Amino acid sequence: MSTRVGVLGATGAVGQRLIQLLAPHPEFEIAALTASSSSAGRTYRDAAKWRVDTPIPDDVADITVVGTDPDEVPDDVDLLFSSLPSDIGASVEPAFVEEGYVVSSNSSNGRMDDDVPLTIPEINADHLDLIEVQRDNRGWDGALLKNPNCSTITMVPTLAALEEFGLERVHVSTLQAVSGAGYSGVTSMEIIDNVIPHIGGEADKMETESRKLLGSFDGAGIELHGADVSASCNRVPTLDGHLENVWADLAGDPDPAAVAEAFRSYPSIDLHSSPEQLIEVFEEFDRPQPRLDRNLGGGMAVSAGGIETTSNGIQYNCLAHNTMRGAAGASILNGELLLEEGYL
Ligand SMILES: NC(=O)c1ccc[n+]([C@@H]2O[C@H](COP(=O)([O-])OP(=O)(O)OC[C@H]3O[C@@H](n4cnc5c(N)ncnc54)[C@H](OP(=O)(O)O)[C@@H]3O)[C@@H](O)[C@H]2O)c1
Repeated sequence: MSTRVGVLGATGAVGQRLIQLLAPHPEFEIAALTASSSSAGRTYRDAAKWRVDTPIPDDVADITVVGTDPDEVPDDVDLLFSSLPSDIGASVEPAFVEEGYVVSSNSSNGRMDDDVPLTIPEINADHLDLIEVQRDNRGWDGALLKNPNCSTITMVPTLAALEEFGLERVHVSTLQAVSGAGYSGVTSMEIIDNVIPHIGGEADKMETESRKLLGSFDGAGIELHGADVSASCNRVPTLDGHLENVWADLAGDPDPAAVAEAFRSYPSIDLHSSPEQLIEVFEEFDRPQPRLDRNLGGGMAVSAGGIETTSNGIQYNCLAHNTMRGAAGASILNGELLLEEGYL
């Protein structure tokens, strides 16, 4: 039997990806869609300006969008995927969880809270049990689970694979696609023929979230990973796919072949949306590229290439699809983990 799910912020860039991925999903059935008051009361077809590269699913198009309020969502919906702006998510998500809903959220609010699990199922599925601490602390029956920021998700699987060489310090410079800012985030006048060398709050998210993801859970809380992470984030005129240049200082001194093998052999997980090969490695120095490689593994794989040694460790490039692996797909994968681990 399918689990009944809803999408909060269903009309936006990430919301539409969620609909695209949930409509054919074997374990989930879309039962509620919410957005702002300007969309509420309209059919999804009418409220969402559909921009995804597959047709709007017929059975979803006729659903009436409701306001983002727990009273508007049926009680028999078991799981909510949230793709709300973070300032809205900060007030609305706890209100849903207080009412007993389980929320798998993309929004950045609360990601670094001590009792909120931040997970990439292939990397730190054990952190999910922080939900028990959350329920004790807050008296909630529901649960709030977060996936990380899209630029963080792109890099962290590769860092996890480098752990065996003693990860000490990370520098990363990103080239991030415009879809990462949402539909109204960056205007064409700002980005065509241009690069914007700053994305508000993004570097801080990479520096903190990656240490939480790689940290250890002792049953009571997360101890952040000790590696120092510094990031510089740039918006470039690609549509989808964040490319990142990473320099990792290591205690050991593996050669590029050993790093490539560590990337390739890093295990995936047996969940519907997880790719068979988590990290795809290119031998060519001019790959991965956003247009060519963002859809690997159904948009859920991370790819890496250009691996070279440095005086302190290793340097490489990595890439992931920011609205699939970096947002909607990440949230759905977390939903699959919640289901698998009996939280629904
Ligand atoms: N884009 C990415 O690659 C990406 C990656 C990772 C995380 N995220 C995060 O995911 C979230 C959504 O991003 P997005 O790019 O999808 O944004 P977006 O395109 O601007 O969509 C925002 C959604 O939230 C709804 N909304 C706006 N104001 C609301 C309000 N006051 N009450 C209820 N609903 C409201 C909108 O509904 P209306 O259509 O009715 O206005 C729309 O459905 C953000 O927190 C973002 O940081 C995005």
